[in-house]
Amino acid sequence: MAKTIFEIQSEGRKGYTLPKNDVKINNCIPKKFQRAQDIKLPQVSELDVMRHFIELSQMNHCIEKGFYPLGSCTMKYNPKLNETLARNSAFNDLHPFQSENTTQGALEIMYELQNDLAEISGFADVTLQPVAGAHGEFTGLKVIKAYHEANGNSHKNKIILPDSAHGTNPASVILAGFKVVEIKSNNKGLVDIEDLKVHVDENTAGFMLTNPNTLGLFETQIDEIAEIIHSVDGLMYMDGANFNAIMGIVKPGEIGFDIMHFNLHKTFATPHGGGGPGSGPIGVREDLVKFLPAPMINKKDDKYFLDYSHEDTSLGKVHPFFGNFAVNFRAYIYIKMLGAEGLERVSENAVINANYIQKKLEKYYDIPFKDQYCMHEFVASGVWQKEKYDIKTLDIAKRILDKGYHAPTIYFPLIVHEAMMIEPTETESKETLDEFINAMIEIAKECEENPELLKNAPLNTPVKRVDDTLAVRQLNVKFEL
Ligand SMILES: Cc1ncc(COP(=O)(O)O)c(C=O)c1O
Repeated sequence: MAKTIFEIQSEGRKGYTLPKNDVKINNCIPKKFQRAQDIKLPQVSELDVMRHFIELSQMNHCIEKGFYPLGSCTMKYNPKLNETLARNSAFNDLHPFQSENTTQGALEIMYELQNDLAEISGFADVTLQPVAGAHGEFTGLKVIKAYHEANGNSHKNKIILPDSAHGTNPASVILAGFKVVEIKSNNKGLVDIEDLKVHVDENTAGFMLTNPNTLGLFETQIDEIAEIIHSVDGLMYMDGANFNAIMGIVKPGEIGFDIMHFNLHKTFATPHGGGGPGSGPIGVREDLVKFLPAPMINKKDDKYFLDYSHEDTSLGKVHPFFGNFAVNFRAYIYIKMLGAEGLERVSENAVINANYIQKKLEKYYDIPFKDQYCMHEFVASGVWQKEKYDIKTLDIAKRILDKGYHAPTIYFPLIVHEAMMIEPTETESKETLDEFINAMIEIAKECEENPELLKNAPLNTPVKRVDDTLAVRQLNVKFEL
């Protein structure tokens, strides 16, 4: 473990040179607000501080340090040029209350991004306001609510989703004021149409489907599902968080979906938002545009403006101002740099990379749906290792850390026992994929030859095996001197 900065300090050591204080504190700060004792700061040199923080930064894993196959999270590399441009003060120093005359460039970027996302997804229009994927889900579900209420169908209170759904889906359904109805996946890992038919009725407000789904499989029965849902005037919602697999290849708005959210961080290389400071735009079909949060960005006579014209029908704002501009800006650059062909290549490579690993590992790990091609990710399972050697998937994941990688997502999706969800993304070379494959094969052999090694892993990381249960029960995140 690295030492804390207080443990490396030495009495009297300094890391700064400040001019002598010539402010008469007594004249400007009332006595009662003045500090009675000196603050306890670490006494360290500038070099001590640099070494300390560099050491800490290297204890964490990041995509710049190594392969990060965390399924469902799409840890794709964020091009540094986009970061540099997004920090440009011409955009960074804008204030959202500035007049439109002085923000034409920023408005143009938002307008173009709305249109590009609409074009890529096949929807009539897009709002950039939601600030995370789950926030997009919530906004989309509120659009569904507004649609049914406008049609006098307030009784429609059920959203149907499959048991493979991402955890945020049912949570958003509840937050938006609907009931969750879960249906089964069939033995191919896709929506079980017969089970869907049993649950659809006149109270069905909509169907929510992740496509590709969380098993890494493309849901092929959209036509049939859309027909069933539309026959009761329900709306088809697509969780488009996994859009990285189908960009430039499938337009969800043209195959039966009515609403979709994007996860810009999972598709258009913006930083991961940790549930908030990201971006989750939604696209909708023509007759639903009037329900989107106001304002939209529009253009008249070569001038861009904030368009509040649908405010009467809009479901209201879901975020202050116009969404996370700096995040959206990065996505705009990504799209413009790659163009239509480039985006398609991204998806093709993401899918090829995942299939390559899946194929190479199928002899060593159980892969429940290996008779189908996967999309940008696949789900392997540690059941063979559990049954034969009493090794849990958690042990395998910890051993992967020893090999210098971030572990895949484990125990999700819930419908696969001992799940390991592997998503390489398009940015990795064949050499990196091969090294990872070899490491996974080595681990499979270690399970057989030296199971104790796995049970004690990780051995090479700064923090060794932690007691997860104790950490949850006695959570203590405060450092005390
Ligand atoms: C399929 C799916 N849906 C929804 C989400 C939620 O997105 P966010 O974390 O941006 O809220 C994710 C996140 O990874 C996801 O993978």
